[in-house]
Amino acid sequence: MYRLFFSLLFKRMDPERAHHLAVAWIRLAARLPVLRTFIAAALAPRHKELRTEAFGLRMHGPFGLAAGFDKNAIAVDGMSMVGFDHVEIGTVTGEPQPGNPRKRLFRLVPDRALINRMGFNNEGSAAVAERLAGRRTVFRTVVGVNIGKTKVVPEGEAVGDYVKSTRRLAPYADYLVVNVSSPNTPGLRNLQAVDHLRPLLSAVREAADQAVTERRVPLLVKIAPDLADEDIDAVADLAVELGLDGIIATNTTIARDGLGLTSEPSLVKETGGLSGAPLKSRSLEVLRRLYARVGDDITLVGVGGIENAEDVWQRILAGAALVQGYSAFIYEGPFWSRAIHKGLAARLRTSPYATLADAVGADVKEPA
Ligand SMILES: Cc1cc2nc3c(=O)[nH]c(=O)nc-3n(C[C@H](O)[C@H](O)[C@H](O)COP(=O)(O)O)c2cc1C
Repeated sequence: MYRLFFSLLFKRMDPERAHHLAVAWIRLAARLPVLRTFIAAALAPRHKELRTEAFGLRMHGPFGLAAGFDKNAIAVDGMSMVGFDHVEIGTVTGEPQPGNPRKRLFRLVPDRALINRMGFNNEGSAAVAERLAGRRTVFRTVVGVNIGKTKVVPEGEAVGDYVKSTRRLAPYADYLVVNVSSPNTPGLRNLQAVDHLRPLLSAVREAADQAVTERRVPLLVKIAPDLADEDIDAVADLAVELGLDGIIATNTTIARDGLGLTSEPSLVKETGGLSGAPLKSRSLEVLRRLYARVGDDITLVGVGGIENAEDVWQRILAGAALVQGYSAFIYEGPFWSRAIHKGLAARLRTSPYATLADAVGADVKEPA
């Protein structure tokens, strides 16, 4: 049904327009009490056995919405209504910015992938903080806040920009993510080098502790799939050293070769980050490597190419306590989370594990 709808309507529309339209519908539905109760009952039935706890936060399940979909926190309840167990908003930058010129989002339909070079278009940390402060919670959901660098801020002053966002947003964040891995802000990914990352993460930690004294805001870092293996290990070691709460693996890739892409070459050549199915195997590989390095010391969040319950299950076995998705939501539509939860509950039932927590990292601990 959604596939038909997708081909008749969304596929013919500019992808960014289609996105705004879909978000507007979801927002509207979430504002109408009868409709939202009906939709939530249909799309977000809860499975007790999938209840998850990560960095001290309780969730209905392990499956959340990845950053970038709701950059300005305008549809948190709506995304919860359609079944996501947590919603990561952002990336939010210190200052508002328009992002890159359009057209900046492309669908690679035959590859079930997207390429984007949005460039952190967002309303900025002050406006998003104000929105979160005024939010009347309808569905209790975990809200992660993903922060990044304002484009015009020079690399040398990046720490100050992240700290500004942290001060403003930490009070409303169930967890905070330092994004150093988007390919669309020049120089951003250089911050993944431990020499840059150590002072950045330490400063954000300190700012979060000063901004929020009544609880400890969990702090995570989000990394790129294009890091060399040694760099992944270095980030993992740094995360342990700094007592970070989690690592999110991965963001989009700038790679195109060797991914078996079959879409029009002119589309494949578009500059930007590639997400969706072709990212699956590298994201899984990065996750495994991280888990082999940090074990259960740090919570890992698996993202990149998730399409179905089996993908989520594989990430859990590879070490992820939480899993996120974005691109497949565009292709699969509003019943996607429901299908994932149902399939995951069935997968757990037929597995040797009593709980999802028992399954985390099982493939890496005892390789088949
Ligand atoms: C259009 C688009 C915008 C994105 N924007 C952000 C962003 O602002 N911050 C971020 O950390 N990740 C962003 N991402 C990356 C996703 O959060 C996710 O890491 C990536 O898409 C891989 O997951 P997927 O294959 O399920 O899409 C974006 C992805 C897409 C497709």
